[in-house]
Amino acid sequence: MSSDDLHALAARIRAEAESATDPRALDAVRVAATGKSGALTALLKGLGAVPAEERKARGAALNQVKAEIEAVLEARRAALEERALEARLLAERADATLPPRPFPPSTGTGSIHPISRTVEELTAIFGAMGFAVAEGPDIESDWHNFGALNIPEHHPARQDHDTFYLPGETTRNVLRTHTSPVQARTMLSEEPPIRVIIPGRTWRADHDATHSPMFHQVEGLVIERGITLGHLKGCLTDFLRAFFGIADLPVRFRSSYFPFTEPSMEVDIGWNRRTGELGAGSDWLEILGSGMVHPRVLANCGLDPREHRGFAFGMGIERITMLKHGIPDLRPFYEADQRWLAHHATSALAPFLLHESA
Ligand code: DAH
Repeated sequence: MSSDDLHALAARIRAEAESATDPRALDAVRVAATGKSGALTALLKGLGAVPAEERKARGAALNQVKAEIEAVLEARRAALEERALEARLLAERADATLPPRPFPPSTGTGSIHPISRTVEELTAIFGAMGFAVAEGPDIESDWHNFGALNIPEHHPARQDHDTFYLPGETTRNVLRTHTSPVQARTMLSEEPPIRVIIPGRTWRADHDATHSPMFHQVEGLVIERGITLGHLKGCLTDFLRAFFGIADLPVRFRSSYFPFTEPSMEVDIGWNRRTGELGAGSDWLEILGSGMVHPRVLANCGLDPREHRGFAFGMGIERITMLKHGIPDLRPFYEADQRWLAHHATSALAPFLLHESA
């Protein structure tokens, strides 16, 4: 190819680049010129066949043309991009004088998740009974999760817990299998009288329609002079009736076993198994575990069992939420599905906005 031909080729590529009106067309020009099988690339590859005395000058000329073409392509690309941005800004221009769209009250956006709502309700109901809220870590020592609560190494209760053990050389940590370890933490860090509820995440290796590897529990602990089983029964009966909003909800205390309480009781509420209606029918539904704090647990946590006494309880937050709102499956709690949230989440803003526009 003569140097005239080379300049003609360069001029043609330049013209094509200038007339490309979108990035894709421009890219086609680039590929045809300097791509792997492009015209300029072919000429550069052919340099080997050029007689030695011409090769140097020829190579220099080719590289110069290539550099020019690349500069032209780059300038054109930048110009096209700028033009595209301007077009987009023009198309997306917002009219700031338009009135705002109304806030969609039940799309799930900015609404309160049923779990959070239950925690708020628990806090309000127990708060009115003088309970404070305490919290503890999700990653617990084996001792706080089990040992302090009178569940030693080979205790059969350990098998029920499907524990996630975390790797570690000296101290063994677990993802807490219940909120009960925060009982121990509270007794160790606070002086009685103690009246706390402890809502929080808990973990067990179990997954189906009614079990999730991560779920929530709320724990309660009362350590006070003169506390009796009667206080436990009154407190939990009042709580269950307030939470489910049924003033005469039947509540039954059934003798049971937990390593950390003595005596221990499971608490049932009356319902109709067939219809799922709470407070009606003649069936019983287990709802929580409770009991008088075991003297050994008190001692493990630095309290003299001859001097201190109290009660404790624990329940699943998803479970009471599902029962209260008739939610049959646990899994959607964690799926952030907008349709499910629109149905089950409440908007704190909705009543306010309704009031405003009325
Ligand atoms: N920790 C128990 C569980 O995960 C629930 C429980 C039962 C907590 C009785 C308590 C209690 O504080 O007294 O199943």
